[in-house]
Amino acid sequence: MSQKKLHLAAFVSAGPVSGSHGGWRHPRAEGDLLSASYYQNIGRLLEEGRFDLLFIADIVAIPDTLGGSPESQLRYGALGALRLDPLTVLSFVAAATKHLGLGATISTTYTQPYSLARAMATLDHLSGGRAAWNIVTSFQESEARNFGLTEQLSRDERYARADEFLEVTVRLWDSWRDDALVRDPKAPLFADPTRVRRIDHAGRWFNVRGPLNVSRPPQGHPVFIQAGASDRGRDFAARWAEIIFVTPGLIDVAIEFRNDLRSRAARFGRDPDSLKVLPGIAPVIADTENAAKALCDELYELAHPNAGLSTLSYHLGVDLSLFPQDQVLPENLDVPGVQGHYREVAELTRRSGVSLAELGQRYGAGRTTIGFTGTPGTVADRMQEWFEAGACDGFMLQIPYFPGGVEDVVHLLVPELQRRGLFRTEYNGATLRDTLGLARLAN
Ligand SMILES: Cc1cc2nc3c(=O)[nH]c(=O)nc-3n(C[C@H](O)[C@H](O)[C@H](O)COP(=O)(O)O)c2cc1C
Repeated sequence: MSQKKLHLAAFVSAGPVSGSHGGWRHPRAEGDLLSASYYQNIGRLLEEGRFDLLFIADIVAIPDTLGGSPESQLRYGALGALRLDPLTVLSFVAAATKHLGLGATISTTYTQPYSLARAMATLDHLSGGRAAWNIVTSFQESEARNFGLTEQLSRDERYARADEFLEVTVRLWDSWRDDALVRDPKAPLFADPTRVRRIDHAGRWFNVRGPLNVSRPPQGHPVFIQAGASDRGRDFAARWAEIIFVTPGLIDVAIEFRNDLRSRAARFGRDPDSLKVLPGIAPVIADTENAAKALCDELYELAHPNAGLSTLSYHLGVDLSLFPQDQVLPENLDVPGVQGHYREVAELTRRSGVSLAELGQRYGAGRTTIGFTGTPGTVADRMQEWFEAGACDGFMLQIPYFPGGVEDVVHLLVPELQRRGLFRTEYNGATLRDTLGLARLAN
C-alpha cells in the first residue's frame, strides 16, 4: 500500500465545455448550465469522491482569434463561448458542500489587488477555509480590448505586474493580525485597532494604502494555483504557487517539469514538498475497454473541427484560418500564446501527419491531452505509473461532460484508486490546506 496519496482536482469551466468540445451535446450532459443546482450537483459529486478541489477556469472575453470572429466559439459551443463568473458560481458550490476546495481563476492583469483580496477573503471565510486562487496573467488580445487597452502587455510585463500584485494581496490579507477580530460585546471591543494596520504600498503598478476591510482569512491566504509554462512563468509559479497545473503530454516531460519546478522553488527558499504538481488529463472511463473506446469515438464525432480549431487558435494566439485546412500545422510558428500547447500539438502533427481540420477536431475532443482512456483499472494503472515515477503529485481531471463523466470518475475510478491505497477515503481536516497537507500561513 502506498503511503503518499494523490491529489485530485476537477477542471470546470462554467459554460458549455470543460473536457471535450462536444461534451455539451452528449446525451449524459444533463441539467441547465445556467442554474446554481448544476454546479452544486457537480460539487456534491466531487465531494462524495473526496476530491481536493473543484477549479473554475476563466477568460474575460469571447475569443475571436480564428478568422477575427467569435462565430465558431459561439455557434459550436466552444470553450470560450460562455463563462459565468467563477466567484459567484463557487459561492453556490460552497453552500452545497463542506470539504471541497473551491478554486477561482482571476487575472492579475485585469483586476486590482484590493478587490481581489477582499473577494477571496470573503470566499475563504464563508466556506470555512476552502478558497483557492488560480492566478493567471491572461494571454489574449481580445481580453485586453475589454479593459481599455488596444494591445496586451508583454509576457514579462504581465508577470512583473503579477509579482507586485501578489506582494500587495499577501500584505492585505496580513493587514489584520489573526487575533484582531475580538467581538467582545461587553467591553465593547469589536476589532482591536492596534492589531489592524495599513500597508502603505507604493509601487510601479499599484498604490494601496490598506488595511483590508475583511479580517484575516481562515487559511491565512487562499491556496495559490498557477500554470506557468515559460521560463518566466515557471519562476513565478516556483515563487508563489502551491498547486501547479501543466499539460505535459509525455511522462518524461512531466518528470522533467516537476523536478525543474521543485528545484526552482528551493532556490526561492521554499520546501519543494509545498508544491503540488497536477498534470491535466482527460479521462474517458467505462466498464470495458471497448465501451471506453466507443465513448471516445462518440466524443470525437460530437466535437466540430472549428470548435477545437477556434480554441486552439486562441490558446496559441495564432489565427489558424490563415493556413490550408487540409494540411499539417506549419512548423516553427511564432506563438505569442501558450507555447506548451504548441509544442504538444506540433509534436502530434509531426508524429501522425494530421491535417489542420482534423487537429481541430482532436484538440476539441480532448484527444491531444494525455488520453487516459479505458476501464477504471487501466486508467488507475497509468495514474499510478505517473505518480510513482515522480511525474506528479496528483492530477487535474478534464472530464468530458457533466454530470455523467463526473459520476463515472467518482463511482468507477475513485474506488479503484482508494482500493490501491492511492487516494483518501475521508477528508483529514477542515480547510483546503489541511486536505492538501499544507501548513496554515503565519502572519
Ligand atoms: C491546466 C491549465 C489551465 C489553465 N487555465 C487558464 C485559465 O482558466 N485562464 C487563463 O487565462 N489561462 C489559463 N491557463 C494558462 C496559464 O495561466 C498560462 O498562461 C499558460 O500555461 C502559459 O504559461 P506562460 O504564462 O508561462 O506562458 C491554464 C493553463 C493550464 C495548463
